[in-house]
Parts: sequence; structure tokens; C-alpha cells
Amino acid sequence: MVQLSEEMKTAFSKVKIFPVATASGAGIPNVIPIGFCQLVDDETIWIADNFMAKSLTNLEENPNVAVYVWGPETGGCFQIKGEATIINSGDKFEKMREIVHSAKPGLPAKNLIEVKITDVFQCAPGPEAGSKLL
Ligand SMILES: Cc1cc2nc3c(=O)[nH]c(=O)nc-3n(C[C@H](O)[C@H](O)[C@H](O)COP(=O)(O)O)c2cc1C
Repeated sequence: MVQLSEEMKTAFSKVKIFPVATASGAGIPNVIPIGFCQLVDDETIWIADNFMAKSLTNLEENPNVAVYVWGPETGGCFQIKGEATIINSGDKFEKMREIVHSAKPGLPAKNLIEVKITDVFQCAPGPEAGSKLL
């Protein structure tokens, strides 16, 4: 696992909607917008599954996830890759449900998708685009 830098964590905190990409076991890609996506420590992202359909099936078949971090206030762009675990009971799951329901009561909060970050790549245009940062 890798740990995001302070600068990366600040950029992450500025993004409101994250593009979250998954792939099926056969490698068919799928990308969705996700609002409930947060860092819980330097190397772990929590995503709340409220409405995932293809994404959840993909994660059951293939734990690989990719997200890019970009927005008008991020001051750059980087791409995160990681491995997801689907969690639907226990303390972490209940904490995720509290977070979701404190923001929007009534949302289903079906699963916690816990992503352990494995790689970070430069995603801003220029000569370093695509290079591995972490
Ligand atoms: C702005 C926006 C934010 C969204 N945030 C979430 C979210 O936090 N959690 C979630 O499960 N679905 C969220 N959705 C719904 C998913 O993007 C998507 O519709 C759902 O996962 C079904 O697509 P799939 O079949 O590709 O998984 C959001 C949709 C939009 C437009």
C-alpha cells in the first residue's frame, strides 16, 4: 500500500464528485460519479454504495478500482488505483451508514466499499503525464 502526501490529501478534500472506475471479471470497464467518497487515512478510501449496480457486480468479480482526483480547486490532477473490499457488517460499515445518514437520511447505504490505495500516477497534462508518483 502507499500513503498519499499532504498535498494530495488536500486536493482530494476539494473534490465533490469523484469518477470511480471498475471493471468486470472479463475486463469490461465501467465508470460512475460518486459523491460519498472520502479518505479515512493516508492509504484508505471509503465509498458508500447507495445505488451501485454494475459497479457492485464488477467489484464482486474484480477488486480493482481507479479514481482520478481533479477539480477547479485541486491545483493538479492525479490518478489513484486500489483494491476494494465490500463490507456490509461491523463497526466500519455502521460508521459509513452514520456518515451517509447524517448527510442524507433515507439513503440505502447498502455497502461500504473500502479501497486500499496501491498506486498513484500523475494525471496532469505535460511531460510527466502517466508517470508513477507513489
Ligand atoms: C452526482 C452523483 C453522485 C452520486 N453519488 C453516488 C454515491 O455516493 N454512491 C452511489 O452508490 N451512487 C452514487 N451515484 C449513482 C452512481 O453514479 C450510479 O448511478 C450507480 O452506481 C449505478 O451505476 P452502475 O450500474 O454503473 O453501478 C451518484 C450519481 C451522481 C449523478
